Amino acid sequence: MSSSSTADLLVRTGELVGPAICVPGTRPRLALPDANGPDWGLRSEVELGFFGRHEPSGLIDELGDAGLRGRGGAGFATHMKWRAVANAPGEKVVVANGHEGEPASAKDRWLLLHRPHLVLEGLILAARAVRARRGVVYVSRSDTAVAATNAIADLRAARLLPADLRLDVHQVEHRYVAGEETAVCRAINGGPALPTAKPPRPFERGVDDLPTLIDNVETLAHVAWIARFGASAFRTQGTAGSPGTALFTLNGCPRPGVYEAALGTSVGELFHAAGGLPDGMGGLLMGGWFGGILRGDHSALRCCYDAVRETGSSLGCASLTALGRDADLLATAAELGQWFEHESARQCGSCRNGTAAMSRALLSVAAGDRDPAHVANLSRWGTSFVGTGACAFINGAAALARSVAAELNSGPTAISNRWEKGSSNAGTH
Ligand SMILES: Cc1cc2nc3c(=O)[nH]c(=O)nc-3n(C[C@H](O)[C@H](O)[C@H](O)COP(=O)(O)O)c2cc1C
Ligand code: SF4
Repeated sequence: MSSSSTADLLVRTGELVGPAICVPGTRPRLALPDANGPDWGLRSEVELGFFGRHEPSGLIDELGDAGLRGRGGAGFATHMKWRAVANAPGEKVVVANGHEGEPASAKDRWLLLHRPHLVLEGLILAARAVRARRGVVYVSRSDTAVAATNAIADLRAARLLPADLRLDVHQVEHRYVAGEETAVCRAINGGPALPTAKPPRPFERGVDDLPTLIDNVETLAHVAWIARFGASAFRTQGTAGSPGTALFTLNGCPRPGVYEAALGTSVGELFHAAGGLPDGMGGLLMGGWFGGILRGDHSALRCCYDAVRETGSSLGCASLTALGRDADLLATAAELGQWFEHESARQCGSCRNGTAAMSRALLSVAAGDRDPAHVANLSRWGTSFVGTGACAFINGAAALARSVAAELNSGPTAISNRWEKGSSNAGTH
């Protein structure tokens, strides 16, 4: 699928405004068929039993029992972050992160447009659990800002908003790093939406200089579901290490869009629900664009945090882009390299210079330059740059470099058709 340029992918994902669909075999929790329709609203959520739990005593333990992991990218245990903020003295702030910086992801947008009250229910429960009097919904699109603002007004009108909790919406300009947790706090505090050095981490000091709990909007929707149905019910789908369902965004298939599936569902089952892959699978872009490229057919790969990590990649925000069997993966990698260079906040030397150097090397390799130094450099940068930035952005660029270097090192069957056909040197690296 040589048409899968990053520009194409951006355009395609931007068009993903269709219904969210539940993959056969999964029982829907978020992507309820009716929630796609215009009649869904606060009344529907209340009828399902949400907004019935006013004092979330024991909720943090329950999140631990449920094994909920954050859906914003890192898959970190939600209850641990909540407990750290709850244990801090004094006032706190809670933030629903609906920025959705990953260009190949559309699930947070779907949630905010179709089930904003559920997200707010999770945010209110979070505020109660950590004793916060301020909550912020953080977004970068005007449609999600309007949806969240209207949903807050609905709650206020229905007297479902605690009197001592101030909820508002903060909209920033879209750029990838604006969703990183320190950038979120900096922007809400009135600064630019760019990451800051850690420590302090937001759970220590963030919005208004107070301990701040930041959760992805999908994580908060699952919190509301657990508060309503319980930890054991949550664990009836998913794997032991990655319980529950997740909203996947699938691209590069006949019916791209948002799909709910139990964590651990295979790549093949996911794409089957999205119309299959008529041209077969030549590679997979993982985690949005943060998990690098997996070459070959990964239909059997189980989509849970641990199984994907074992491949050297990461599930990230659960966005997967299938590349066809005839895709030029080196050309795709070069485009992603340029995107990383462009999206770097250019604050840290390693990120500014590193993403530029990686991008140059990827472009050279994609253009057929067989200098072994490129492969050696990509391989080295793929590990040496990890953890050198103030935020984890550079880690995504490094993952890309690592995946390309590993494939190029793997011999004559390496990463792209162009590499195989390109020169008499093919297969010597
Ligand atoms: C460069 C970068 C960009 C990020 N962008 C987002 C984002 O757009 N949305 C999001 O929810 N989390 C994003 N994150 C993760 C947040 O920093 C934070 O960990 C997350 O919102 C916490 O939510 P969770 O625990 O529910 O996953 C990003 C992280 C990095 C390093
Ligand atoms: S690592 Fe890159 S994106 Fe992150 S703060 Fe530094 S310059 Fe900005």
